[in-house]
Amino acid sequence: MASKIIFFFLFILFPSSQFHLCGAQTLVKAGYWYASGEFPIQDINSALFTHLSYAFADVNASNYQLLIPSASQQYFSTFPTIVKRRNPSVKPLLSIWNGISATGKSIAGENVNDSVLSSMVSASSKRKAFIDSSIKTARRYGFQGIDLFWVWPNSTDLSNIGVLLDEWRAAINSEQRQPAESQLILTLAIRYLPTIEMVSYPIDSIRRNVDWAHVVAYDYHLPTRENFTGLHAALYNPSSNVNTDFGIREWLNKGMPPSKLVLGLPYHGYAWKLVSSQDNAIGAPASGPAVNIDGSMGYKAIKSYIRDYGYGATSVYNATYVVNLLTTPTIWINFDDVEAIKAKMSYVKEKKLIGFKAFQLSNDDNWVLSRAAQGGENQANKQQLLLKIILPVSLIVILAVAILGYVPPEYVRKGIYSMKYDVYSFGVLLLQIISGKRNTCYYGPQENLNLLEYAYELWSDDRGTEFIDTSLDDSSSTCKIMRCMQIALLCVQENPENRPTMLEVFSMLKNASMAATTPRRPAFSLKADKNTGSTSASQQEICSFNDPQISQLEPR
Ligand SMILES: *[C@@H]1O[C@H](CO)[C@@H](O)[C@H](O)[C@H]1NC(C)=O
Ligand SMILES: *[C@@H]1O[C@H](CO)[C@@H](O)[C@H](O)[C@H]1NC(C)=O
Ligand SMILES: *[C@@H]1O[C@H](CO)[C@@H](O)[C@H](O)[C@H]1NC(C)=O
Ligand SMILES: *[C@@H]1O[C@H](CO)[C@@H](O)[C@H](O)[C@H]1NC(C)=O
Ligand SMILES: *[C@@H]1O[C@H](CO)[C@@H](O)[C@H](O)[C@H]1NC(C)=O
Repeated sequence: MASKIIFFFLFILFPSSQFHLCGAQTLVKAGYWYASGEFPIQDINSALFTHLSYAFADVNASNYQLLIPSASQQYFSTFPTIVKRRNPSVKPLLSIWNGISATGKSIAGENVNDSVLSSMVSASSKRKAFIDSSIKTARRYGFQGIDLFWVWPNSTDLSNIGVLLDEWRAAINSEQRQPAESQLILTLAIRYLPTIEMVSYPIDSIRRNVDWAHVVAYDYHLPTRENFTGLHAALYNPSSNVNTDFGIREWLNKGMPPSKLVLGLPYHGYAWKLVSSQDNAIGAPASGPAVNIDGSMGYKAIKSYIRDYGYGATSVYNATYVVNLLTTPTIWINFDDVEAIKAKMSYVKEKKLIGFKAFQLSNDDNWVLSRAAQGGENQANKQQLLLKIILPVSLIVILAVAILGYVPPEYVRKGIYSMKYDVYSFGVLLLQIISGKRNTCYYGPQENLNLLEYAYELWSDDRGTEFIDTSLDDSSSTCKIMRCMQIALLCVQENPENRPTMLEVFSMLKNASMAATTPRRPAFSLKADKNTGSTSASQQEICSFNDPQISQLEPR
C-alpha cells in the first residue's frame, strides 16, 4: 500500500493542467454574459470557463418572483444548452439583479434602482417567494446555480441579506432533486470593501451559505461622478485606500476565508475628458466622461479606439497601480489590458483566492483577456511550484534511499557517490510504483529479467502498457504513465552520465511537450544493449542488496 500512497504523492507533483487529478484545486474561471443580444451566446468560448452567468434576471416588484424581460426570454431559455456545447462541464449560473442601468454597460451608473431587492429582503414572505421562484426557474431552464448581483445594497439591506442567505441555503439544501441533478451553486457579488456606510456585510452568513462571493473590484472612480481622473480598478494605490488590494485585505481581516473569494475582473475601462493637455496624471483635473455618455468603454472598443487614433498612440502599463493607460492631449482612458489581468491573477494566487469572474464577456477582444486570466494559473508563482515539486520529490528520494536502499551500480561496485545517486533511486522507485512489482524478483516469459530490464524490454517493444499495475486503472492517463516509465528508465541508466539530473527529471515530468531521450538498457543488466552492444556486469548485486529491506515495504 505504501507504493500506492507514494504514487498518489507523485501525481500531485504534476500541474493539474496535465494530469487533471487531485493536485491544486482548479480555479473558478467565471464570466458574465450580458443579455443585450449584441454578442451571440454561441460565440462564447466556454472552454475558457468553469462557470458562465446569464445576466440578468429581474425581480417582479409585485410578487417578488423572478422576471425575465420578454425581450431576452429567448436568450435566457437557450443559454445553458448553448454554452455547454463547447464545454459540457461548464456550469451555467442564473444571475439576478434588479438595478439594471439604462445603458447596461456600467454597473455603477446613475440609474441604479435596487428598491425591489430592498423590499424583497425585508420581509419573510417576500424572501420565500423570491427564493422558491429562483430555484424553480433555475431548474426549469437547466441552470446549475444562482448568483445574486446586488452591488449597491444600503446598510439596512445588509443584515437582511444575511437572513436571505440563510434561508436560501436551507431551501437549496432541502430541494427535492432529480437523480441527475447536483445541488445548486449559490454565489453573491460583494463590494470591494466589507463595510457600507460603516455597517459590515453579514460576513458569517456569507461564509456559511455561499459557494463563493465575487468581489466587484472595479468602477471605483467614474468620470460621471468626479472631476479628477481616477483609476476604476487599480489593484494597488500608494496614495489612497481605494484599491482592490486594500479591500481584499479588509475582507480577509474580517474573517472571510480566501477560499470563498473570487476576484472580479473588468473587461471595460473609462474615458475622461482632460481639462488641460499639460496635465494627464492620475488625479488630473477632468471635465466629465469622454467618447460617450458615461465614458464606459469595453476592452474591444478601447483597443479599436487606440488603433484608429493613429499618431502611434499606445497604452502604457503601470505596474505600481496595475493598470493600462492611454493618454492623448484631450482624453485619458484607464483599463485592464493583458498585463493588468495577468498581474491580478498572480495576486489571486498569492492571496489564495479561488479564481476570477469577468464582467463582461462580450467586451473581450477575441478572448485575449480571458486567455490572459488562464495563464495566471501556470505562470503565477514559479517559486511555489518549485517548492511544491522539490520538497515532496526529495522526500520520496530520501525514503527510497533510506528505507529501500536502491543504490546505483557505481556505488555498489566502486563506492563512487555521484550526483546522479538520487536519480537512480528515484527511477527504481518509480518503476516499482508504476508496475506494482518488486525489484527483487524476476519477470518476463522466461522469468529471467529483473524489474528494470523487464521494464526496458516492454518499453522498447512498445508494450509498455503491459508493465502498468492494473490497479492504477486510469486508462485516460496511460500516455502520461508511459512517459513516467520512459523517464524512470532514463534515471536507471548504467552510466551516470546518461542519467538526467533531478532537475531535468522535474522538467520532463512537468512539461509533457519536452522531449525525453530514448533510454538504453538499464543498469544491473546482463544482456547486451541492442544499440551499443555493451553489457552490464552488475546483475548479481541487486537481489542480495535489496532483499533484507524490501520486506518492510509490504504490510503498511
Ligand atoms: C408581476 O407579477 C404580477 C402578479 O403576479 C403579474 O400580474 C404581473 O404580470 C407580473 N409582471 C410581469 C412583468 O410579468
Ligand atoms: C425604483 O423602482 C420602484 C419600483 O419599480 C419605484 O417605485 C421607485 O419609484 C423607483 N425609484 C427611483 C428613484 O426611480
Ligand atoms: C435602504 O433602502 C431602502 C429601500 O430603498 C429604504 O427603505 C431604507 O430606508 C434604506 N436604508 C437606509 C439606511 O438608507
Ligand atoms: C465637474 O465639473 C463640471 C464643470 O466644471 C461641473 O458642472 C460639475 O458639476 C462637476 N462635477 C462634479 C461631480 O464635481
Ligand atoms: C506609474 O505612475 C506613477 C504616477 O504617474 C509614476 O510615478 C510611476 O513611475 C509609474 N510607474 C510605472 C511602473 O510606470
